[in-house]
Amino acid sequence: MQTSNQASTPVFPPASGMRILYSKSQISERVQALGQKISADYAGQSIVLIGVLKGAAIFLSDLARAINVDATFDFVAVSSYGRARVSSGAVKLIKDIDNPIERKHVIIVEDILDTGLTLSYLRGLMLQHKPASLKIATCLDKPERRLVPIEADYVGFKIPNQFVIGYGMDYAERYRNVEDIRLFPEEAGGH
Ligand code: PRP
Repeated sequence: MQTSNQASTPVFPPASGMRILYSKSQISERVQALGQKISADYAGQSIVLIGVLKGAAIFLSDLARAINVDATFDFVAVSSYGRARVSSGAVKLIKDIDNPIERKHVIIVEDILDTGLTLSYLRGLMLQHKPASLKIATCLDKPERRLVPIEADYVGFKIPNQFVIGYGMDYAERYRNVEDIRLFPEEAGGH
C-alpha cells in the first residue's frame, strides 16, 4: 500500500486540482497494449484473472476487456497492514478465491506494486493451489519502494515514489473513481 501522512481529520481536495500523472487516454492506450500482449502470450488458452480488492477493480475491468482469450474472474481481498507510515509487513487474507485454480493459467491483477509485501504473500498463497502458470499484472509499479524481491510480468507504468490517486487508487477510500491517475498533494497528506 502507499503510505500517507494522514492527519486525524483527512481533507479531500477536489481531484480536478491535482496534477495528472497519466491521463485517461494514456491509461487506455497502455491497457490496450497490455491486453494485446496478454492475448498473444495466452493465445488459444483459458486464463483466470484474480483481482485484488479493492484497488484493482477498475484496472481489471478495463484490462479484461482488452484481452481476447477465454477468461474468468475471481477476486481476493487482503487486510491492509495498517495506515501507519511504517508497515508491519503482515498481510492477511480476508477473502479467498471462489473457484479452484489447479492446472489453470492464472494472472493476479493489481493496481499498484509498492513494497511487494501484498503480491509476495498472494503469489505464495496461489502457488499452493498448483496453477499451471502464475503471472502478475500491475497497473503501476513503484520499484523504489520494494522491500521484498518481486517483479510483475505485465506493468502499465513504472513510477517514482509519489502518492497517486485515481483509476482505482484511493486516499482514505476516496478518489477511486477518478478517471486519470493524479498526484495527491503533499500538503493534504500525500507523501
Ligand atoms: C494497495 C494495492 C496493493 C497493495 C500494494 O492496497 O492495491 O494491494 O497496496 O502495496 P504493497 O506492494 O506495499 O503490498 P491497499 O492496502 O491500499 O488496499 P486497496 O486495494 O483496497 O486500496
